[in-house]
Amino acid sequence: MKIVVTGGLGFIGSHTVVELQNQGFEVVIIDNLSNASLDVLDGIFSITGKKPEFEKMDVRDKAAVQSFFKKYSDVTGIIHFAASKAVGESVENPLLYYENNINSLVYILQELQQKPEAHFIFSSSCTVYGQAKNMPITEDAPIQPPMSPYGNTKQIGEEIISDVAKISNVKAVLLRYFNPIGAHESSAIGELPLGVPQNLVPFITQTAMGLRNELSVFGNDYPTPDGTCIRDYIHVVDLAKAHVVALQRLIDKKNLENVEVFNLGTGKGSSVLEVIHAFEKVSQKKLPYKIVGRREGDVIEAYADTEKANKVLGWKTELSLEQALESAWKWERKIRS
Ligand code: WQD
Repeated sequence: MKIVVTGGLGFIGSHTVVELQNQGFEVVIIDNLSNASLDVLDGIFSITGKKPEFEKMDVRDKAAVQSFFKKYSDVTGIIHFAASKAVGESVENPLLYYENNINSLVYILQELQQKPEAHFIFSSSCTVYGQAKNMPITEDAPIQPPMSPYGNTKQIGEEIISDVAKISNVKAVLLRYFNPIGAHESSAIGELPLGVPQNLVPFITQTAMGLRNELSVFGNDYPTPDGTCIRDYIHVVDLAKAHVVALQRLIDKKNLENVEVFNLGTGKGSSVLEVIHAFEKVSQKKLPYKIVGRREGDVIEAYADTEKANKVLGWKTELSLEQALESAWKWERKIRS
């Protein structure tokens, strides 16, 4: 069975390609290489021994999307990662985000809705919950007004998919990621942030490597036990495996609704200081950090209720925060060697 993975050379995309291949799926990757390198194909091959098909293509190009689906008329499913994801950049340049994340989705769905059957997996985000009232966050927690154009593209994306699923044979799973971190245990693939990392874990590993002087901890006056924000950090390999399970559920027609939503997290919240200390433990290195003011737009805490994913998908995380940090650290050392 052939599965299309857009953004398949990116961080979560590449790990998902590996898990798909491990489960016997044939994979066609679409990527425009705007935030990924062709070397990732070799990384994937070194893990699975299988080269995925690759099409260098931009999913914002409607004509290209049309000819792609003509050429690959036999695809069984599509996992759509290709999108921009930097919150700050989306505030600076909202139209770039609406073009990248919405136009591409529309073009893909225009092709899928003509098919007699289409299985679609969408990368959504816990950002749709904003600051949820109750922890852990369940899938039926209210969607809050978006905190950024990036967050808005995820909310609008979910709505577009739901509207299309109502009037077509498109069946979809929306996966709301919490905070994906880590790398494949082989260190053949991992995260490659462009420029100065905005996310906590890549900033930590780059600081430990000496590329950054110190980590700024954004606020220690939050109403949490140690005053720093709490997030749900999930190992990217666990996250990747959930995509394969969700896809299989659609293929097996086990889905109960045209569109199903699942939180993908560990269910455990960790504060920024806890992450720093866990990193120091696994790396045996002291991490230089200082407390600075709060970062605009940060929620106080967000961690997942994983019961629905555990029960309905039959999936649960297997890897710990320490294992995720260890793999991120091993990856950072490998790419700098
Ligand atoms: C985690 C915690 C920071 C950097 C974002 C997106 C979300 C998602 C994942 C996208 C926060 C603190 C961070 C630093 C720090 N999806 N921090 N110093 O903000 O939870 O989520 O990424 O792809 O939609 O919003 O993740 O890793 O940026 O921050 O103290 O240098 O670490 O304040 O509490 P976040 P993050």
